[in-house]
Amino acid sequence: MLAIPLLPSAELTDVYCQQLQQQFGLSLVQSPGDKFAGWYLSMVQGALVLLNSSLAKQGAILVDFASGASSYRRQHGGGKSEAIAKAVGLNKKATLSVLDATAGLGRDAFVLASLGARVTLVERNPVVAALLFDGLRRAAAEPQLTAVAARMQLCHSSALAALTTSEPVDVVFLDPMFPAREKSAQVKKEMRAFHDVVGSDDDADSLLAPALLLAQKRVVVKRPGYAGWLAGQAPTMAVTGKNNRFDVYVNAAI
Ligand SMILES: C[S@@+](CC[C@H](N)C(=O)[O-])C[C@H]1O[C@@H](n2cnc3c(N)ncnc32)[C@H](O)[C@@H]1O
Repeated sequence: MLAIPLLPSAELTDVYCQQLQQQFGLSLVQSPGDKFAGWYLSMVQGALVLLNSSLAKQGAILVDFASGASSYRRQHGGGKSEAIAKAVGLNKKATLSVLDATAGLGRDAFVLASLGARVTLVERNPVVAALLFDGLRRAAAEPQLTAVAARMQLCHSSALAALTTSEPVDVVFLDPMFPAREKSAQVKKEMRAFHDVVGSDDDADSLLAPALLLAQKRVVVKRPGYAGWLAGQAPTMAVTGKNNRFDVYVNAAI
């Protein structure tokens, strides 16, 4: 795995820096100097961001639940009629517990928590987990997001470890990486960052069996429409969204 340094900045307090180092194993670069190139983490305008000094057009990658798409989906999105809500079963019961075993930048988890679910966000990559931690910290301080943030809990761990040690949950949600065909500039930038920083999710197929053992109600697997089934296992049903398909493996009725 690529080691991504944390760069000092006037906005990064000693206390927060130590917390990020201890919780996520990030290493602080004391004096980056002129030779520093590539991916790095820094605090910019109050947020932890992932940047690349060698890619001029890359832009910052961060978790921002208050911004644009997340906020729009929270306020105006199809709510319980969204494909993800139907797949998870939130159209039937809003207060489900969900273990999102591949949390990434937390967009799906945020939608689920906005609809009322209690979501555990499991993320194994330390850089992505640190970005999530920081996004949740800022969301908790935003009055309109405090309640949603309180329903989201970060767990920096491998999915396999979380799936085999967690208390039972209603739903396990899986969204392992899959080569995307989507062409929007933002998706391309995030894809490049994930490709470089996270790599591929080669163990994705092995998550389905433990997920099915843990989920009291169902396992939901998010896939691009053109992708095959996870672990080659046919779901009970599929809910098709605008850009994705949600394969639903039902253990019990909601
Ligand atoms: C496609 S992204 C998930 C995107 C997410 N659904 C969202 O809405 O932002 C996949 C993420 O799952 C994480 N991941 C993949 N396999 C994992 C595993 N076995 N354990 C923990 N995290 C995993 C990767 O590090 C990556 O951040």
